[in-house]
Amino acid sequence: AAQTIPVTVQPGDPKVVISKHIYGHFAEHLGRCIYDGFWVDEKLNVPKQGRIRMDIVEALRKIKVPNLRWPGGCFADSYHWRDGVGPTAQRPATINSWWGDVVEDNSFGTHEFLELCKLLGAEPYLAANVGSGTVQEMATWMEYLNSNADTPLTQQRRQNGHPAPYGVTWWGIGNESWGCGGNMTADYYTDVYKRYATFARNHPGSPPLKRIVSGANGDDANWTETCMKKIPLDQMWGLTLHQYTLPTGSWTGSKGKATGFTEAQYFNTVRNCLKMDDIVTRHAAIMDKYDPQKKVALLVDEWGVWTDVEPGTNPGFLFQQNSLRDALVAATTLNIFNNHSDRVRGANLAQAVNVLQALVLTDKEKMLLTPTYHVFDLYQVHQDAQWLPLQFRSPDYVLNGEKLPALNASASKDASGTVHVSLVNLDTKKTLKLEAALPGVNWKTVSGRILTSANVNDHNTFASPSKVQLATFNGARKRSGNLAVELPPQSVVVLALQ
Ligand code: AHR
Repeated sequence: AAQTIPVTVQPGDPKVVISKHIYGHFAEHLGRCIYDGFWVDEKLNVPKQGRIRMDIVEALRKIKVPNLRWPGGCFADSYHWRDGVGPTAQRPATINSWWGDVVEDNSFGTHEFLELCKLLGAEPYLAANVGSGTVQEMATWMEYLNSNADTPLTQQRRQNGHPAPYGVTWWGIGNESWGCGGNMTADYYTDVYKRYATFARNHPGSPPLKRIVSGANGDDANWTETCMKKIPLDQMWGLTLHQYTLPTGSWTGSKGKATGFTEAQYFNTVRNCLKMDDIVTRHAAIMDKYDPQKKVALLVDEWGVWTDVEPGTNPGFLFQQNSLRDALVAATTLNIFNNHSDRVRGANLAQAVNVLQALVLTDKEKMLLTPTYHVFDLYQVHQDAQWLPLQFRSPDYVLNGEKLPALNASASKDASGTVHVSLVNLDTKKTLKLEAALPGVNWKTVSGRILTSANVNDHNTFASPSKVQLATFNGARKRSGNLAVELPPQSVVVLALQ
């Protein structure tokens, strides 16, 4: 019979809060994320505000998207903001040379993005063009958006329909400056950063900027070390990190299939996903050396499962299906971020709609919510809640003689005192039995929801959009003052203790 796993939910430190921004998203001008995703043809028969697709907005409002990053990604370092403001008919057509060489008509620009954020109730997170732009171009974008002074730029903003300053505070200074953002060395980038940061000015009429350093690729410790050593702490609010989960683990050749994978491939994907914990731990330790008071936020502003594209789709559009496996990866990764919330204070899943590990897929009028969407629905209870550390030893998930931890979890206490525990069982066959003590927590009842399905390959299609969906969870109860849970195989469960 399966052993019961003892778990302790500790009282924690009331000062350590799981920032809601860990639950952020990303919308790049890439494939069908913006065009034919968020922003649709006037003639498409779906609810719209202007050309913004409102069924997507409604779905994302339900999961409380805290921030949205835009316009890229690699695209950001080719983007010239003036191309996307003013009367639409006068905006120039440009080429999106990063993603399929398609013509970018610039009908979705800064005002449209900020309108989308307003509809979503999300903080806008802009990425400034460092790779192919200029310091002045970035500085004028900031003045255009944020100043309440009377200048030709702010007059232009007023003429373009927005009299009040927008108050955009989140500014990434470049994207992947070690790669598509300019192939810079860490040393060179930090000098460039300081130059840009100097001219990234606060403007009367808007709150102070949060200047964000374009950070490391995966486990590149030297990048983080160089940024932390060379950039004064008061010049950076945040430092980023990009880490994707590739099923094969390889950027060359096949990255692995989005569906129709074997259990061995699932196991490998999980192994690659779990690397996030070590990677975050390593970057956080470097940051601690230079910033022991943890003033600078670590923002994992690109993460998620990256597979081969769906057969027959444009390889430059990065369109992939999304299975229960990807939901298990998302839930595991979010547990890792929650458990590092003293330093990780933001993250952005790549990407929101129709690209990579999307929350929403569309096909003309049709729209579906992916299994990953349901994880964000379950986990929204952790947003801005107090982090509660957990203690337990995970049993092994064993396949072909190899082992991985089967169980991962995180917990928090919200403003009303409700404790939420999110549990992930990565094992495809074994039910896990847990018994959790919660010293100091006064609770009477437990309720919960579960995401699972018969196969880790299961996914939602336009013909069957609810194959993988949330259900009420009845496998938890109070026993001798403790929380007893039977966690089914390949499942994500979030419990509320009141
Ligand atoms: O999310 C897709 C791409 O991945 C982004 O444009 C880039 O920043 C990263 O390499």
